Amino acid sequence: MECCVIGTGYVGLVTGTCLAALGHDVTCVDKDRDKIAALEKAEMPIFEAELEGLVSQGLSSGNLRFSTDILSAARSSEFVFITVPTPSDGGGHADLSYVDDVARTIASAIQDYKVVINKSTVPVGSTKRVQRIIEESMEEYHEFDVVSNPEFLREGSAVSDFMKPARVVIGSDSQKAIMRMTELYRGVDAPLLVTDPVSAEMIKYASNAFLATKVSFINAIANICEVVGADVREVSLGMGYDERIGFEFLKAGPGFGGSCFPKDCRALLMIARENGYDFDLLEGVLKVNDEQQERMVAKIKVLVGDLEGAKIGILGLAFKANTDDLRDSPAMNITRMLVMGGARVTAYDPQAMENAAAQLESVAFAGNAYEVAEGADALVLLTEWDEFKWLDYERVKGIMRCPLIIDTRNCLDPAVLRKLGFAYEGVGR
Ligand code: UDX
Repeated sequence: MECCVIGTGYVGLVTGTCLAALGHDVTCVDKDRDKIAALEKAEMPIFEAELEGLVSQGLSSGNLRFSTDILSAARSSEFVFITVPTPSDGGGHADLSYVDDVARTIASAIQDYKVVINKSTVPVGSTKRVQRIIEESMEEYHEFDVVSNPEFLREGSAVSDFMKPARVVIGSDSQKAIMRMTELYRGVDAPLLVTDPVSAEMIKYASNAFLATKVSFINAIANICEVVGADVREVSLGMGYDERIGFEFLKAGPGFGGSCFPKDCRALLMIARENGYDFDLLEGVLKVNDEQQERMVAKIKVLVGDLEGAKIGILGLAFKANTDDLRDSPAMNITRMLVMGGARVTAYDPQAMENAAAQLESVAFAGNAYEVAEGADALVLLTEWDEFKWLDYERVKGIMRCPLIIDTRNCLDPAVLRKLGFAYEGVGR
């Protein structure tokens, strides 16, 4: 089936590549010529497991193409995916100008029946908005449907999340579009949920807000655990065995970040407010998240004595492991706060350093974790990369000025580290 994916950001690139791997004929388009030129050579703009191999496969099989010509790609496709960014406009609203522009371009490409699929995270009601923009921009009416098909891809496991999702949600009022979408997703082994467009849009926000709530909940529990002397990891485990709760998203840490949770929570708060509902619970989730990052800094401050002049080594800057994404990263916020507090900071991240260097002033970057530890008064682990779990901590202790580790991800073994002579501090334990 002929597909065109407009926008080769995270979601677009993964969606297009995976559709090609399912055997569809896919053109991924973007107005960024350099990006398209690089993608034609299978050079990835992002770090994502499995993606590069699949792009190469798609290019050599001929199922996957890249182009800057949106109009002709849309014209020759039955399925047109909109996967352009919807950044926060600063006031908590999503900026829909890219979506609107693309909708107008699609309007001029429609000459026979098309399914236009909205995969960008858009406010409730946007499927209808795209439908209206296309209708208004068409010179001559041709049949088309707009469908909401939210994505639930996690960075770091986006390919397998696409191929084996928990569910595929299709929001449409058109029987014809639903049947074509069902056909498109035939190769994906997952329950298919067909709803009206508005419910599909709400499913995306509600899912991300609920997961964010779980993270803030466990972080709040962690903070209580610290005071009463409990271990939050044991508490999470004990909660998780209850199938009604589950083990997922109950890891205490420095707070949630990334391109979705903070932005989607803020957008949902706004949607609620504009519809006359004060979503106090979600407000609390964001408050706990902001405070959690400040708590990490306060913790470091107490342990180091005085931030002014302290040499602090940072392990990890990405918002979570296995990605180079720094958007709304708690690690970046904490690093900035430490610098503002007067600390001399050296940082290392296996994938995100190049991006970080462009954003962080007054931070030195190291080539590996050992260089970070050199002469440090404290080592702060902020992103749970596997390589940090398997460092030679005896060597680390030998090169630090003061053997203090603050493990904001609870991913190191305190007993082993204490035996080596480290002072160890985790979260909620
Ligand atoms: C998320 C959703 O999971 C995905 O379905 C959606 O489409 C996009 O947003 P992603 O942003 O890639 O995916 O990250 P995710 O793995 O969900 O983690 C989000 C944040 O929560 C990260 O900062 C992570 O470190 C944090 N987190 C997650 C915790 O602190 N504890 C947990 O137990 C789980």
